[in-house]
Amino acid sequence: KITPVILAGGIGSRLWPLSRKAMPKQFLPLLSDESLLQSTLKRVTGSQFNAPILVCNEAHRFIAKSQAFDVSKNVTLLLEPEGKNTAPAIALAAEYAQKNGLLGPLLVMPADHYICDFEKLLARLDDAVALAEAQQLVTFAITPTEPHTGYGYIRQGPPLHRDGCYKVAEFKEKPVLKLAEQYIASGEFSWNSGMFLFFADVYLSELKRFAPKIASSIAQAAYFTEDLGFLRPNADILKTCPSDSIDYAILERSENVAMLPVDLTWSDVGSFSALSKIANKDQFGNYLGSQGVSIDSENNLLISEADHTIAALGISNKAIIHTHDATLVADKKALDKLPELLKQLAQRD
Ligand code: GDD
Ligand code: MG
Repeated sequence: KITPVILAGGIGSRLWPLSRKAMPKQFLPLLSDESLLQSTLKRVTGSQFNAPILVCNEAHRFIAKSQAFDVSKNVTLLLEPEGKNTAPAIALAAEYAQKNGLLGPLLVMPADHYICDFEKLLARLDDAVALAEAQQLVTFAITPTEPHTGYGYIRQGPPLHRDGCYKVAEFKEKPVLKLAEQYIASGEFSWNSGMFLFFADVYLSELKRFAPKIASSIAQAAYFTEDLGFLRPNADILKTCPSDSIDYAILERSENVAMLPVDLTWSDVGSFSALSKIANKDQFGNYLGSQGVSIDSENNLLISEADHTIAALGISNKAIIHTHDATLVADKKALDKLPELLKQLAQRD
């Protein structure tokens, strides 16, 4: 059986003030009445899956547990004292799987993505497992639509032994805009969806090769103590582990990376513009949520917390995000400066 590994340790800072340190986006009911994490867990309840391993930050353990247990009582919760990015988080899950006799492949999934046709990926699991059995790290690749600089780009290599399976000729994480534009123009690249399938031992041996410090810290830290259903690695050792993502640490360097194109309706809901693209808008292009009204306004994104009315008159291309303790009023064009704004805010504390 396949063991799902759900990564839920990110911060989602480009959705501030909706997404907060104490309540990052994966725990928010952004696009329906369940959180992105819960939608993710529901995707992997089929009989081909073992109980999922959820890796998240210590600070979010109660919200993670209560949301996960609403979907399934059978979720393994691994807690990190601090986030070290995805390469160590996946390694913790891989070590846990090995130690607990979960010898099937791992399906790694971000907890914060929007996907409405996951069955297309499920239909290709057998192919993915076959590639993983040939010692490959399998990435699920998405057809790109714009030169977005927040994604990994995958250049398709020669076909592998099964239909629609390819070697990865080149993997480039978060290229600068010029390069992303060239990639898109060439038609040879896909986006990395951030979902992967591989065997724990293959992942750990590639990690050992390309990020030996991470591999050895995690190997030492991955003796878990249990308390109230939470599993904790050795915090002192984990604190010394270098941070890096699987993309930079391994996928850009390894020769054993394969890709499976999947034609998903997918978004990583990484920013307000991404949210705006998938949200249900009115005929004037406004997203008004359940609390919004507007006149003579177009292409706005208006979000307010429950019981707070929000109204727009004669404005266009604005994002107005109102929460109980912070309100963002932004020109949509300026939203890529949100990280700078957050830095300034952090300095005030
Ligand atoms: N447990 C844990 N610990 N999870 C983490 C940590 C950590 O330290 N850091 C990030 N995550 C989780 C996030 O919550 C998210 O679910 C997932 O891991 C990916 O991390 P992001 O920080 O969101 O990565 P990204 O979006 O910049 O880039 C990745 O995803 C893109 C697709 O959305 C890369 O894999 C790109 O190549 C890819 O295109
Ligand atoms: Mg992301």
